[in-house]
Amino acid sequence: MKRRFHRGRDVRRACSIDELRAMARRRVPNFAFEYVEGGAEDEHSLRRNREDFDGAAFLPRTLVDVGTCRQAVTLWGAEAASPFMIGPTGFNGMLAHEADLALARAARAAGVPFVLSHVSTTPLERVVAEAGGRVWMQLYPFRDREVARRLVARAAAAGCEALVVTTDCPRFGNREWDKRNYRAPMKLDARNMLDVLRHPRWVLDVLVPHGVPRFGNLDDVLPPGQNSARNAAAFLSRQMDPSLSWRDIGWLRGIWPGRLVLKGIMVPEDARRAEDHGADGIVLSNHGGRQLDGAASAFSMLPEVAAALRPDTVLLIDGGFRRGADIVKAVAFGAHAVMLGRATLYGVAAGGQAGAERALTILREEVDRVLGLLGCPDIAALDQRYLRRGAPAASGPAKVQAAMAGAG
Ligand SMILES: Cc1cc2nc3c(=O)[nH]c(=O)nc-3n(C[C@H](O)[C@H](O)[C@H](O)COP(=O)(O)O)c2cc1C
Repeated sequence: MKRRFHRGRDVRRACSIDELRAMARRRVPNFAFEYVEGGAEDEHSLRRNREDFDGAAFLPRTLVDVGTCRQAVTLWGAEAASPFMIGPTGFNGMLAHEADLALARAARAAGVPFVLSHVSTTPLERVVAEAGGRVWMQLYPFRDREVARRLVARAAAAGCEALVVTTDCPRFGNREWDKRNYRAPMKLDARNMLDVLRHPRWVLDVLVPHGVPRFGNLDDVLPPGQNSARNAAAFLSRQMDPSLSWRDIGWLRGIWPGRLVLKGIMVPEDARRAEDHGADGIVLSNHGGRQLDGAASAFSMLPEVAAALRPDTVLLIDGGFRRGADIVKAVAFGAHAVMLGRATLYGVAAGGQAGAERALTILREEVDRVLGLLGCPDIAALDQRYLRRGAPAASGPAKVQAAMAGAG
């Protein structure tokens, strides 16, 4: 019999993140799935993000008591139940109704932080009030610094623990596969309009009752009556700031009282510079392969960057994490925790909050199993001795994923 994923809708039947991805692909229209899935240009970095995990092979210890394995980690003195969190992704409401809240609630239930995107579809105050838990706020420092100043003040008033400043978007990444679905900005072409009609579950969840979701955090900076998604998208494209520099980070440090994290760092010298500018943490990231195509994977830079940082700087990483094994490898190379991007988006797109929770449960169980099989009962004891580094394999999981794509 041909191998295939579960064909139904019950997210509890999903055994892996890839299986949730297949469910998501069936539930949401092509344009929304492509928005999540795609990378910049020829998607070299997107593929590298998955393939580079193969370059590190586990070296398990045997005859170790692994009756219970501890996977909690400490971030600035407070415990996270697992070595991962949900990272910032914009426009989540396009995947499921109030997807930001669903993701934040799932993160809280799993005992891990949630990072809300600046361009979320739910305002940050609602996420903090209705989902609670450890909420961090991501910021795109737009051209108009007043936008940043207001968001920083709102995040501080709401009690967000950390401000995550995204530094790798001096220009928009060129996501050609995403663009091809539109005939004009935010206007789908005929093929995609028809495809939307073929997804009635999504239409009834997202589109019919609520209309196209709006950018919840931008209402106070858009002109009155101009807060439709289309106007906001035009505003965003004008507001990307190519002149953003380290000087601005100094300014943000001065106005933000909480933990400051810089996202989009890729090399040791920038990691040290972040520390010198008062950052409490960094996210080693190539933005999920969505910005500079051809960039190295964050994972391939991890040992060097970890070696460059002071021990009290929180080192986070993202890009391509779909398995507990990937997460354990990153911790062994010195990351404190992993930020999840598409992994939890597949979950929420497949089944709302239940789907997001399923994604986190899958990863928690995988981390637990990997620690057990590795003979390492406490994640705090993991280090590079549990890994052998070699050349990345020629045929990585990306190929397997491509082969399984038909199974969705
Ligand atoms: C659909 C989507 C939207 C994203 N939106 C944002 C965003 O608003 N802010 C941000 O800093 N990063 C954003 N990112 C990048 C993610 O935070 C993260 O760096 C990336 O998804 C990690 O790679 P992965 O998806 O392979 O795990 C987005 C990524 C995706 C897939």
